[in-house]
Amino acid sequence: MILNLKYIVLNNFRCHRALKVSFSEKVNVLTGRNASGKTNILEAIFFLSTTKSHRTSVTKELINKDSKNFYIKGEAVKNGSSLILEIGCSLGGKKAIKLNHQKIRARRDIVGQMPVVFFSPEDLYMVKENPSFRRKFLDILISQIDHRYLLNLQKYQKIIIERNRALSQVRERVLDIKMLDVWDEQVIGAGMEIIRRRQDIVSKLNRICLVIHREMTGGNEEISLEYSPSAGTEDSYRKKLEEKKRQEIEQGITTTGPHRDDVYIFFNGMNLRQFGSQGQQRTVALSMKLGELELMKEEFNEYPIILFDDVMSELDDERREYFLEILSGKRGDNGPIQSFITTTGLKPFESIKNNINIIKVEKIAPCFNQRDTTEHAV
Ligand SMILES: Nc1ncnc2c1ncn2[C@@H]1O[C@H](COP(=O)(O)OP(=O)(O)OP(=O)(O)O)[C@@H](O)[C@H]1O
Ligand SMILES: [Mg+2]
Repeated sequence: MILNLKYIVLNNFRCHRALKVSFSEKVNVLTGRNASGKTNILEAIFFLSTTKSHRTSVTKELINKDSKNFYIKGEAVKNGSSLILEIGCSLGGKKAIKLNHQKIRARRDIVGQMPVVFFSPEDLYMVKENPSFRRKFLDILISQIDHRYLLNLQKYQKIIIERNRALSQVRERVLDIKMLDVWDEQVIGAGMEIIRRRQDIVSKLNRICLVIHREMTGGNEEISLEYSPSAGTEDSYRKKLEEKKRQEIEQGITTTGPHRDDVYIFFNGMNLRQFGSQGQQRTVALSMKLGELELMKEEFNEYPIILFDDVMSELDDERREYFLEILSGKRGDNGPIQSFITTTGLKPFESIKNNINIIKVEKIAPCFNQRDTTEHAV
């Protein structure tokens, strides 16, 4: 797979009312003052790839504050063919998606078409904050490489909503408790598939990240990642659901299953969330993202598109060089990787200045003739 995003069009996406940006197939450096809209451009590329924002789960926040809908279009070349992706979204929050001018109904038909890894300051949440950030990390990664996973994940989420409704109905005595068995079996079926796939990916990541992290810390630190599942087998899953049934009927929510699972992260045998310093947590987050990148390369035999938001300024000189060498194709057996990096100044890019495409965000001319918002937003 040879993938190259040629341009992106934004209408009413965050601060960008009407914009078209063209990219080179190598390193693209987006530069501009604070609040000039650099991160918003990377967010739009990520959204086009995954139909999700890296910083919010409320899609309507992405609509320009003076508008009622947004529209994003991107054209890529993939294995020699053109790939046109379009997403519109209105205040109601519903997305309209097109792939090569054809309307598509399901997210899974677009996720994975243009694989991407996003390095952002928010990565720190993945190691510091609650388990939902680690689940999101895994779900986006696995969905991009395996669209059956996304299909099953959506199915599972639907079953959980239905089971929760059934739990409340049992409490209100409009449904017999025995009827819950039907939901339990469905939850176990879809849930076990998610657990197995996540366990498999975490064990692969564990292998990759161990090596990367050793290299990053000069051999001083070992990390290990461990998926912490709600249940290891169908039988133990069934048993857990049974044990919690009374309490769940009272609350009307399903409290066990992969939607509550976590990934434990250890450094030198200690829990990183509890005992890691800020710097250690940051380095582990970076190792995990690099692990994600290498894992995608193993899956696709090629690197995905890489987005770097503000990360360069946080790295020390050695690590910055390490990254720039990977991106510009000086390290390893690959050529340059198409990447998108935001920065307020060009100083960190001195060593590869002849190999980068510099995009001055404030200088991009507005582009009103690309407006296609109404047709696509629903
Ligand atoms: N829905 C929205 N409508 C209009 N403007 C918005 C919306 N969401 C965010 N913005 C604005 O977009 C501007 C640009 O944000 P962005 O995060 O892209 O800046 P940036 O260039 O990455 O800045 P920095 O260098 O500080 O990271 C901000 O002023 C922000 O308030
Ligand atoms: Mg920014």
